[in-house]
Amino acid sequence: MSEQTEANVILITGASAGIGAALARQLAPKGHRLVLVARRADRLAEVAADCGDNALAVVADVTDQAQLDAAIAAAIARFGHLDVWVSNAGQGITRQPSQLTDSDLDAMVNINVKAVWNGVRAALPHFAERGTGQFIHVSSMLGRVPFAPIRSAYVGAKHMMNALTASLRIELAQSHPGVIVTLVSPGVVFTEFGSSALHGGPDSRAFPDGQSAEEVAAVIEQAILTRATDLYTRAGAQARVAGYYATLGSDPA
Ligand SMILES: NC(=O)c1ccc[n+]([C@@H]2O[C@H](COP(=O)([O-])OP(=O)(O)OC[C@H]3O[C@@H](n4cnc5c(N)ncnc54)[C@H](OP(=O)(O)O)[C@@H]3O)[C@@H](O)[C@H]2O)c1
Repeated sequence: MSEQTEANVILITGASAGIGAALARQLAPKGHRLVLVARRADRLAEVAADCGDNALAVVADVTDQAQLDAAIAAAIARFGHLDVWVSNAGQGITRQPSQLTDSDLDAMVNINVKAVWNGVRAALPHFAERGTGQFIHVSSMLGRVPFAPIRSAYVGAKHMMNALTASLRIELAQSHPGVIVTLVSPGVVFTEFGSSALHGGPDSRAFPDGQSAEEVAAVIEQAILTRATDLYTRAGAQARVAGYYATLGSDPA
């Protein structure tokens, strides 16, 4: 794997809180130029201020294609080009599978799948023209294993996002080999994710055995440096996923 050594222009969605904010604060002192995207202008401005002169805050809703098209236009106008698009914005849900409504399913797909594809559509023409670029899609262990029934609609959406991401990687390896696609899968992270879930619910910061947003941000930074394509954020995660699939199904006798 080749290492990227120079500073990059990096757009981060969901940069007003949690993992996205931690990533911005971690990358800024390394000289990267940042485009920070989220809806809450006040929270975004705080993060941007911590990041200094090389951070541009763009208030946008990732579920709106036009707003993400405007975000990349703003990035190019300010910094000349974009190297990395981190699709990190996301939302969970707290509702048992049998209770899910049609609008619950729509909401989870809109924010966790369609919004990521709004980002792909916004940035791919630019990456294709330059012949280089990186998409980083922040998924979840729950995108690999359906461990949490109260999050089932989120789990399903992240599985879909994973499948689309893997398919995009195969397509681009043929059509645009310089454009790479990375999936990052955290477990529980101590952020506002739980309390911001649709229908409320348990606070992720109260769960046992989580990790900090800074630890996850360090893995995402590693993905940028190494152009790795698929990373968990905790030791033992890959074995846990493999163990789950090893218990499934049986061949006909
Ligand atoms: N925390 C966990 O336990 C955990 C575990 C595995 C994976 N993840 C994933 O990690 C990613 C980041 O989550 P987090 O833990 O940092 O959660 P968080 O603290 O709740 O932050 C979510 C971020 O997404 C932004 N966002 C949500 N909806 C948006 C929209 N429609 N348009 C623009 N921005 C939007 C929020 O900003 P605004 O509200 O200001 O728009 C916020 O900056 C998500 O994809 C999540 O699925 C989290």
